Amino acid sequence: MCGIIGYIGKENATPILIDGLKRLEYRGYDSAGIALLHGGELAVKRSVGKLINLEQLVEREHLDGSLGIGHTRWATHGKPSEQNAHPHRSGNLVLVHNGIIENFLSLKHRLETEGYRFSSETDTEVIAHLLESYMKKGLSLREALRAADSDLRGSYAVAAICVSEPDVIVTTRSGCPLVIGKNGKGSFLASDVTPLLAHTRNVVFLEDGDIGILTSSDISVIGSDAQIVNRASVTIDWDADAAEKGGYPDFMLKEIHEQPQVIMDTLRGRFNYETGEADLPDLSMTAQELIEARRIWIVACGTSWHSGLVGKYLFEEMIRKPVQVDIGSEFRYREPMIQKDDLFIAISQSGETADTLAAAREAKKRGARVLSIVNVVGSTLARESDGVIYTRCGPEISVASTKAFTGQVMALYLLALHVGRVREVLSAEEGRWWLDQYTALPGRVEAVLKQEADIVRIAEQYYSKNNFLYLGRGINYPIALEGALKLKEISYIHAEGYAAGEMKHGPIALVDEDMPVVVLAPRDRLYEKTVNNLMEVRARSAPVIAFGFEGDQELSRVSEVVVPIPEVHPLLTPILFAVGLQLLAYHIAVFRGLDVDRPRNLAKSVTVE
Ligand code: G6P
Repeated sequence: MCGIIGYIGKENATPILIDGLKRLEYRGYDSAGIALLHGGELAVKRSVGKLINLEQLVEREHLDGSLGIGHTRWATHGKPSEQNAHPHRSGNLVLVHNGIIENFLSLKHRLETEGYRFSSETDTEVIAHLLESYMKKGLSLREALRAADSDLRGSYAVAAICVSEPDVIVTTRSGCPLVIGKNGKGSFLASDVTPLLAHTRNVVFLEDGDIGILTSSDISVIGSDAQIVNRASVTIDWDADAAEKGGYPDFMLKEIHEQPQVIMDTLRGRFNYETGEADLPDLSMTAQELIEARRIWIVACGTSWHSGLVGKYLFEEMIRKPVQVDIGSEFRYREPMIQKDDLFIAISQSGETADTLAAAREAKKRGARVLSIVNVVGSTLARESDGVIYTRCGPEISVASTKAFTGQVMALYLLALHVGRVREVLSAEEGRWWLDQYTALPGRVEAVLKQEADIVRIAEQYYSKNNFLYLGRGINYPIALEGALKLKEISYIHAEGYAAGEMKHGPIALVDEDMPVVVLAPRDRLYEKTVNNLMEVRARSAPVIAFGFEGDQELSRVSEVVVPIPEVHPLLTPILFAVGLQLLAYHIAVFRGLDVDRPRNLAKSVTVE
């Protein structure tokens, strides 16, 4: 959902801004732009399409300056064009914006009556003119931003610079993430921490209504009462290299291969083998509170919603606790019967997804305890939750989520064990047994990754097909949904995930020899039923790509091709199947010649409704 960046300091801002935008490009890539202030002159450069176009433009023009802001856009108001690209200028000031201004039409009319002319179709331009109109009335840039803040409705993070105040960048947020930091050589702002990692590890997350003031030597925060507020700085322990491709052709492939490590990191230090318990100190819930929690709700969006669905099967089967799973945008607008003392679990990689955040706030308002499973340390969701389990995946850059899903499912395994032990549904011996299974998972994921060459061959055979069907049952029904989602997101192939038993109630009408059917068939108690479903699609001439346990001869006899995964307890199959399906989607997209890390129309972090 657009990325914004800013730098003021002793160094040339141009490479810092371009490098920062590269790390934010996953947030949007319809157009990009930067503005620099140098020798009392503002230079604004913008270009349509991927960042490389802006980079080449800036190189040709040798732009200099020690103060600047930049933007990478995911279009909401106005098509991707140079005119609509940020930064937007009004008189002697420029600004960049992430989010949506809901009342931009009424503000536009007001500004037009004041004589402002609009040159773009964006909602952002109203903020630029609004600031300029306040500055014309004698306000400083920061005062103008405060005044504009009370006019604006919607979600936004904004950064602005102006010729008359050449020593400062001002920035504010409402509903969109914004982080600032400094390192002795300058001060930085960005939509998330990844561009800051190369410069500093200590960052400050702004709260809604805060105004951040950046000078070349310092950062400060002014609260809504115009007084300085102390916002604690957070230390990010992500490695700067983690935001590099590390020899892989894309971030997505790198992130798929990082999953054994993600599992180890998410488990590390979080269990006591002797007692067979999970140790989750940031949960901030006593054993008694967990015992008394009447109902568990899980709410999330996209891939995170799929991990929530896995959580439902897991909690209900492993520890006999009923769970209700919702999509963020659905939960927030119905009348959910959530009550005081219910446990509400919000799952989000970014911790900034607007619908998930709104759902968590709604749950809190109704008295539920909010626990989040989040990857980004210090994100809004993490800060607003009563308790947090961080997934320790490192930065996930590829728009299509892979390792974050695995981290989330691991966090749910730990939570299920924790709740199971405190409610005494699981004995210490059973707890130890589960821990043995959890800690063996990295090696088992490695074994799936070793199937990559075979998966490449399958991708080569089927990449030109226009439709795919994914079938799974029980805890692997969400994995069928996730496999189909991965394929849609990065290959633009129409794919449907279905509960295998439901297939005959509709999708079977679509099945023919041109529709590959991917079937998840572990040898669990539903194995025979799944194989029957498989036979039904075979009878309609569909090629079957089966994922099943190693050594399953029966499955090989009834499928075109089988991708074997190590035999594990059925509740632990989702991660192994998901990794195989990620590789399948990835290689199909590569055969189709697509940009896997930056799929069209998508954004990594959806901070608007
Ligand atoms: C977007 C991303 C997905 C992600 C979803 C939820 O749609 O493209 O990859 O699963 O948002 O994001 P979250 O950060 O809340 O997990």
